[in-house]
Amino acid sequence: QLILDTLDTQSTLPDSRALKIPGQSSPASSHDAQITILGALNSLLSREMITYETHEVSSHVLTPEGVQIVREGSHEARVWAALPERGSAPLSAQDLKKAVGDEAAKVGQGRAFKSGWIAKEGNGFVKAVSNITDTTQIELRELESSGTLVAGEKALAELRKRKLIMQRKGQWFTVHKGANFSTSIAKPETDLTVDMLTSGSWKKSTFKKYNFEADGIPTSGGALHPILKVREEIRGIFLEMGFEEMPTGTFVESGFWCFDALFVPQLHPARELQDTFYLSDPSTSLPPPSDYYERVARVHEHGGYDSIGYRTPWSHEESHKLLLRTHTTASSAAMLYKLAAKCRGEDIDGDLSVKSQPGAANLSDDGFRPAKLFSIDRVFRNETMDATHLAEFHQVEGVVADRNLTLADLIGFMRTFFRKMGMKNLRFKPAYNPYTEPSLEIFAWHPLLEKWVEIGNSGMFRPEMLAPMGFPPDVRVHGWGIGLERPTMIRYGVNNIRTLVGHKTSIENVENSPAVMF
Ligand code: PHE
Repeated sequence: QLILDTLDTQSTLPDSRALKIPGQSSPASSHDAQITILGALNSLLSREMITYETHEVSSHVLTPEGVQIVREGSHEARVWAALPERGSAPLSAQDLKKAVGDEAAKVGQGRAFKSGWIAKEGNGFVKAVSNITDTTQIELRELESSGTLVAGEKALAELRKRKLIMQRKGQWFTVHKGANFSTSIAKPETDLTVDMLTSGSWKKSTFKKYNFEADGIPTSGGALHPILKVREEIRGIFLEMGFEEMPTGTFVESGFWCFDALFVPQLHPARELQDTFYLSDPSTSLPPPSDYYERVARVHEHGGYDSIGYRTPWSHEESHKLLLRTHTTASSAAMLYKLAAKCRGEDIDGDLSVKSQPGAANLSDDGFRPAKLFSIDRVFRNETMDATHLAEFHQVEGVVADRNLTLADLIGFMRTFFRKMGMKNLRFKPAYNPYTEPSLEIFAWHPLLEKWVEIGNSGMFRPEMLAPMGFPPDVRVHGWGIGLERPTMIRYGVNNIRTLVGHKTSIENVENSPAVMF
């Protein structure tokens, strides 16, 4: 405030040593005073109320001995003062020591002699002059109050030699008005608030400067859920094996794509309400491609392509029902149907998101192109939930379409794939799937549980499924599907799925779960 008031009247303060700080005992020019002033200057500077320049000076400060001399006089002066006038009985060296102390007597005697202040008389000393000027004390007093000596460098050097003063680097300042100069120090605002914006008070507020050096508050970023980490890892394996990811955004499918296209009989138990979630609004799908729909209906009802079919009446209603897909094979079927477009003589290149595979250059006349496709996405089943079952979970699915594939190709592909996932010991067991023949259940040896665990299901897709799509007879398609949750649980040592998925999931666990590498 003193600085601001001074600036208000003088506009600049040329020398901060001229400031008299009220309540401070040391003189304005002293080192301590300048330190205090510097603190104030910096705080005003941060508000841009002032600017200042620093000047370096070397000043002198008194040593404790110097301070004592300012108070009591120099040793020689005290020796002189202790002695009697000439003509009186002299004071012995012993008594002198008693009077002024050992140190002062020793140093002071010599200096007093040299200045001709005292004289020897008999065994003792007397005053040689009737009055003296204690220059040492005067000089030190001058130094103490002003920081300098008019007498100059020679006298200073002498006092330094006598260890009565010490040199000290000091600073003083020239102060100017700053951009935000004002005589009142407002507490600067640290935040721009809604209130300030609505009232307009921000226009008159001063804001504290940002400190870009300050450490920020640690932020918590997003974290991938363990299931998604495993998904990323599995996706990586597919990609390095040259697979393409299928679009699988269609959680809602029709009975046609989820079941009929896959030659799942319309009376199959999997289609029943207790296994599948059906939609009530809207409850029916748009009609599927009509020619293809006819062919699928025919193979179900009457057979064809060397099959006798199911020989049960076809239900449009069943086929058009909307449902939450029970497996990602619904998406695979739709992709395979697209893949076969050229074979059907359709020109839907622009629509076909399946790109040509490397080695697929031998496009033959029938328009078939080999494909390796995969998907990892969510499926829904009307399950009773328990420690290992959810109504919503993820399926991993791989599908390969090429000419003359065999079951050995399927097994070889699975061995390669699962080895990359860390499962070296596999077994396959014949199984039944409406859409594959032969079908294989996949088992992997679990080294910790020390038993074979079922990990998935696979097979060669049936001609009843592929032929209506338009694939040439030598084209075989095989595929397999596994759940994503099971390997994730094994990976993270979780034995209850509900600690991983659902409202009991701990966000902290999700954030802290390590990355997965198979
Ligand atoms: N869709 C099968 C399932 O839900 C998995 C599978 C995919 C089987 C592809 C064969 C071929 O278990």
